[in-house]
Amino acid sequence: MQKNLPYLVILIVLVYAFYNAKFRNNAKIPAKVNQEYTEHVKAHKETSHFEEELSNLKTTEYVKHYIIDVINHGSDQLEFKGGEMEGGFASKEDASKIACYVLELSNKKCKSPYPKDAAMFYSSNCAGCHGEDGKGLGGTYPDLSKEKLLGIEIKEEFLKTMIRKSTKKSHHKKPK
Ligand code: HEC
Repeated sequence: MQKNLPYLVILIVLVYAFYNAKFRNNAKIPAKVNQEYTEHVKAHKETSHFEEELSNLKTTEYVKHYIIDVINHGSDQLEFKGGEMEGGFASKEDASKIACYVLELSNKKCKSPYPKDAAMFYSSNCAGCHGEDGKGLGGTYPDLSKEKLLGIEIKEEFLKTMIRKSTKKSHHKKPK
């Protein structure tokens, strides 16, 4: 018996690890999702709300607001070599014009075309870091011409996790 004890311990550890991996809901909320957004989403516990938010993320209007928000308030969640981005590189009035210009870098369009000076605003306020082409100077800064911006991707992953969690919960709650 004593000879077999180490094997027994190993077996117990393996079974426990397997159980944990398979049956427990280990999905974590990405730590980097900004606090306010997390709280906003968590305040609504229904799966339908998460799904609604998720389809919202796919709209150009949503992406536009995300870009405006970054311009006005900055961003500190993506861990680029360039560090964080402070808010206020452009005035609030210019922010929405610039956002429409940035959208075109990934072949999206605002409802109304951006005024001609938006390109100039982008050049003088943003291109120093993100590059004239928006590609982020070889990975030092985020690539703004990506099909899906990283901040949007993070929110999407977060919402998917919340949907997974809340559908699991409602399974448990089902009456027998
Ligand atoms: C001093 C350099 C710098 C300037 C100037 C700058 N940015 Fe940024 N930008 C960054 C950095 C660094 C990040 C990543 C911040 C983080 O970690 O969240 C970023 C992030 C972003 C993001 C989020 C990207 C994503 O994939 O989610 C957008 C959108 C953005 N910037 C747009 C702009 C616009 C528009 C301007 C001009 C008004 C601008 N930036 C000016 C450095 C800069």
